[in-house]
Amino acid sequence: MISSLIKNGMKGIANIPGDKSISHRSIIIPSVSNGVCEINNILKSDDVMHTLNAFRKMGVRIEENENKIIIYGDGLNSLHKPNGEIYLGNSGTSARLLTGLLSSQKFDTVLTGDKSLSKRPMRRISDPLNMMNANIITSDGCLPLYIKSSNLIPKNIDLQIPSAQIKSGVLLASLNIKGETKIIEHKITRDHTETMLKAFGSNIEIENFQNKRIIKIIGNKELISTNIDVPNDLSSSAFFIVSALINRNSHIILKNINNNPTRNGIILALEKMGAKLSLSNKRTNNYENVCDIEVVSSDLYGCELGPEYADLMIDEYPILAIAASFAKSPSIFRGLKELKIKESDRLNLILLNLKNCGVDCKSENDDLYIYPSDKYTIKDNLIRTDYDHRIAMAFAIMGSKIGPLNIKDSDSINTSFPSFKNEINKLGGNIF
Ligand code: S3P
Repeated sequence: MISSLIKNGMKGIANIPGDKSISHRSIIIPSVSNGVCEINNILKSDDVMHTLNAFRKMGVRIEENENKIIIYGDGLNSLHKPNGEIYLGNSGTSARLLTGLLSSQKFDTVLTGDKSLSKRPMRRISDPLNMMNANIITSDGCLPLYIKSSNLIPKNIDLQIPSAQIKSGVLLASLNIKGETKIIEHKITRDHTETMLKAFGSNIEIENFQNKRIIKIIGNKELISTNIDVPNDLSSSAFFIVSALINRNSHIILKNINNNPTRNGIILALEKMGAKLSLSNKRTNNYENVCDIEVVSSDLYGCELGPEYADLMIDEYPILAIAASFAKSPSIFRGLKELKIKESDRLNLILLNLKNCGVDCKSENDDLYIYPSDKYTIKDNLIRTDYDHRIAMAFAIMGSKIGPLNIKDSDSINTSFPSFKNEINKLGGNIF
């Protein structure tokens, strides 16, 4: 994919797809609930389709219409043993959440994934579950995962790694456990699973206590389906927001965007950098905060972000690094350890590709330093993405300012935002 200069700014209403995290949960939770669930605005990307196909393979009736799906759930123990292994493509969320749910089922399963997912750490999810008497065998800490049927026992799980995927895996496992599972979060991570479980009538309680969040869930209680409207994805919006901020004469509007306070660090960070963002029409839908966002081209200034931002916006550092490259002063983003074990080593690819674009940057102790300039000389316009969708989209936006950039393996974008190129081009982008 080639991304070239935007000449007359970004203008118009951006068509952002449904939220990826909420879309996964919108398949998983109704599949083990009772009743019919109509899900509107679900994201139909490769990652989410892997979750959907997994549940079809386990016997769940799922109908698909244009922008909606209907799930006929039949309760906590209604899943059937799949015929063969479950392939999850590139999707870490599917892998961690399904490991949890399947660890407390009455049949064995095997989970596999693509090259990138097969390198990602899975002990972070199998260890806490095995402490609860699950029987999960990893392949040297990675996929394939062999999940043997087991009777789990309730435990107190102290989450050492701040991760919504681990927390959600444990919560989904606990649905089938008699007694109270308690999860202690030292840093708050996205809470879409808790929110949806509450809406489906689960016995879940959440307390904030001395900078910790304690989640208690009593399992063995059947869940009741309710319809879901998936809000649009803030992480996908971020590419449009930054593109409009850094390209002159831009003015765009994004509607119905998820603005969950456990995940909106990118808005806070960009505002700190001087971005002219206006959030309006703030409301709640299905217990999730949503709003509309208006963006105009802005002079950005560098900023220092502490590690607490990483928990609120871990997926947004690739695009934030692009914004920082066009600021008027340097930036330091601290505590980016988790960024190294995402769909790629994102910290390394941000540095490598920024340097090839002529940007002065470095990392020390998992902190990222960016020293922007008002003119860049490209050293190598081939962008290496290691099949990581967010690296591909972030550098497509870089291309809009300094392009043409040649983004390698850009079909990875289908994992989260299949219409990305068309939607960017509709607003004035130049990606082919
Ligand atoms: C996600 C949680 C985050 C995030 C990922 C989606 C989720 O991962 O990076 O893209 O849907 O729960 P971690 O929980 O591993 O930080």
